[in-house]
Amino acid sequence: MIQTLEWTDHGVRFLDQTKLPTEETYVTCKTHEQVADVIRNMVVRGAPAIGVAAAMGIALGVNNSKAESIGDLKRDFDQISDVIGKTRPTAVNLFWAIRRMQEKFERVRIRPIAHIKQALIEEAQRMHAEDIAANQAMGRHGAALMPAEGGVLTHCNAGALATAGYGTALGVIRAAVEQGKKIHVYADETRPFLQGSRLTAWELMKDGIPTTVISDNMAGAMMRQGKIAAIVVGADRIAANGDVANKIGTYTVAVLAKEHNIPFYVAAPISTVDLACPDGSQIPIEQRDPREVTHIAGKQMVPEGVAVENPAFDVTPASYVAAIITERGIARAPYEESLRTLAAPAPEGDAHP
Ligand code: MRU
Repeated sequence: MIQTLEWTDHGVRFLDQTKLPTEETYVTCKTHEQVADVIRNMVVRGAPAIGVAAAMGIALGVNNSKAESIGDLKRDFDQISDVIGKTRPTAVNLFWAIRRMQEKFERVRIRPIAHIKQALIEEAQRMHAEDIAANQAMGRHGAALMPAEGGVLTHCNAGALATAGYGTALGVIRAAVEQGKKIHVYADETRPFLQGSRLTAWELMKDGIPTTVISDNMAGAMMRQGKIAAIVVGADRIAANGDVANKIGTYTVAVLAKEHNIPFYVAAPISTVDLACPDGSQIPIEQRDPREVTHIAGKQMVPEGVAVENPAFDVTPASYVAAIITERGIARAPYEESLRTLAAPAPEGDAHP
């Protein structure tokens, strides 16, 4: 199984995704600042993985704290959370994870410092395990939506590498394949960072799932030729009305899907749903270094000094989304109602201890 990130006795260990697909190397972070750097530099990426990384970064930072009073420990906790919270703005899982760690701190703050540190480590590990379980549940719900046979297009990487394991969109595909469905994946290359060609193709090949990489501008032609029966992607933030922020280029795929009458599905955990965000216009979109666009493997591809845009995400309006697959079930339009119902707090006894 792919170990995207894990808590170890020596720190938080990450599979370095910037080196894939040619090198499988790991980096171990010993401080929360290092964890913030690996999130920012996309050694680890993908909304759910960023959330778990944030929780582990906080646990690491608090564990390293020299504070001798609960007040000082809380001050350190807040400073650590602030550093982690400034890494990437779009994936709401980051802020969800920080909030959950804050709530854990508040629940155990009357206990001795060593106990608080241990409780935070355990909470981060629990979030790791829960994420895998959520993806498997998404797979169970979503597999029924996949064709018995045919091409399924995905954009970016919403797989094991973008989560604690199994994946959201790729989890749905994995579950469908496990049920015996004969799916052929079309993986959009996903310029400029190439999550599709470098990461999605890498992890699907490891699993022996038939995969064809296409450059992003080929998707329309593939749909027109009847090669695509369904589309499934992940999400970085889903607004209360069902608008979906995901990797730049997702919106283009959704519009093409509508033109060709192909269902466009989104798979994401409830932690990606931001009910405080009324619609997609309120979702902050990360702008990344223009060099990701101007250079490929270190080689300059555009003239010196030309204007460049590099938004990392776009927003797909809810009207293009056939269904949102979550670990608690499938949401359909009107999303204001279906998402609010699914995202309602888990019943007593089901809550995190
Ligand atoms: O910039 P990235 O690689 O972090 O963007 C990742 C995506 O857009 C994914 O589709 C999304 O986070 C869902 S991952 C399960």
